[in-house]
Amino acid sequence: MTARFRVASLLVGAALAACGGGGGGDVITQPNIPTTPVSPDTIPLRTLAERRGLHLGAAADQRPGYSGMDMTRFRGVLSREFSALTPENDMKHERLQPSRGVFRYENADSLVTFAVANNMRVRGHTLVWHRQIAGWLTSGSWTAAETRTLLQDHVTNVVTHFRGKLLAWDVVNEALNDDGSMRPGFWYDRLGREYIELAFRHARAADPDVLLFYNDYNIEGIGPKSDSAYVMIRDLQTRGVPINGIGLQGHFQVGGVPSSLAANITRFAALGLKVHITELDIRMPTPATAAQLQQQADNYRSVVETCLSFPACDLVTVWGVSDHESWVPSTFAGWGAALLLDAQYAKKPAFTALYNLLK
Ligand code: G3I
Repeated sequence: MTARFRVASLLVGAALAACGGGGGGDVITQPNIPTTPVSPDTIPLRTLAERRGLHLGAAADQRPGYSGMDMTRFRGVLSREFSALTPENDMKHERLQPSRGVFRYENADSLVTFAVANNMRVRGHTLVWHRQIAGWLTSGSWTAAETRTLLQDHVTNVVTHFRGKLLAWDVVNEALNDDGSMRPGFWYDRLGREYIELAFRHARAADPDVLLFYNDYNIEGIGPKSDSAYVMIRDLQTRGVPINGIGLQGHFQVGGVPSSLAANITRFAALGLKVHITELDIRMPTPATAAQLQQQADNYRSVVETCLSFPACDLVTVWGVSDHESWVPSTFAGWGAALLLDAQYAKKPAFTALYNLLK
């Protein structure tokens, strides 16, 4: 048994979840037993992962915006196979503060209630980002001083609301361009780099225990963007800014997992950071071929295997439960099939590869 996290209590919870224990939430009425289990004859993936000291998570919303959702099946598979949950959209600025000073927590609270009932950890996503910011904020005309206050108000209100309930927050998301320069956007354009430090400091002031992460894509391997993230975080640490981890999103194309993933995790872990793979999916041109699905399985296995080899890396989250709920096809025309289950919730070779790796 590893000391990657407190496994004993989690195993008890996982066993309860697998048996349908754990009670129901106040809004979500779905019990823990899936009506259409992915694999009733097998051990849940989350149980195998937890035995290895790893949380396996999935992204989900309270009311996912994907058409034709079978919510009973969706939530059943989510709680059976995964021990962590990241709200895909429900904790973003536009959802939580749709009008100035008006915070709407209903959907996010329901997700947290569901997670607690099913002994799942929650990664908060995301406090400060250049996208999905409420229109009242982006369309307003604000001085730098007002922008600082708006940032503090949002971070403080949201982190305080969830204090003690979350494992981690993606405090700042996607602050960098691919060449490593600072990405323009609402917060950067008004405050410069200072917004990053402010966000972390306000988050820590509102919750002394939650893990605080910087999260980005195309920083999984060594390159100009991850070099820049490394320098930025080292600088934050030097100045006493509270930061606990780095989130490597992991939106890959099949065959595109960087060979320097392990070397990159090594250097971030050496800074004393936790490393989470926060949004893993591996897309391919559709319709998928058997060869590509097998290559995808190999890619998933190598990412999880690499994470497992580092004590600092104790969580891998996939960005959706099944190919039916993936953001990929609507963003990359002609691409999809990026997750562990197909659109009918059948296990793909990638699911089986992780099962075999973890067992
Ligand atoms: O919920 C509304 C619905 O009411 C409305 O009718 C509909 C009309 O377009 O939009 C719905 O919102 C959509 C939302 O997903 C929920 O489905 C937004 O348009 C759509 O833009 C949004 O896309 C999300 C995307 O972030 C936007 O930035 C994806 O679901 C989500 O998977 C994706 O997640 C990001 C991470 O947060 C950060 N890293 C990259 C990752 C992939 O882009």
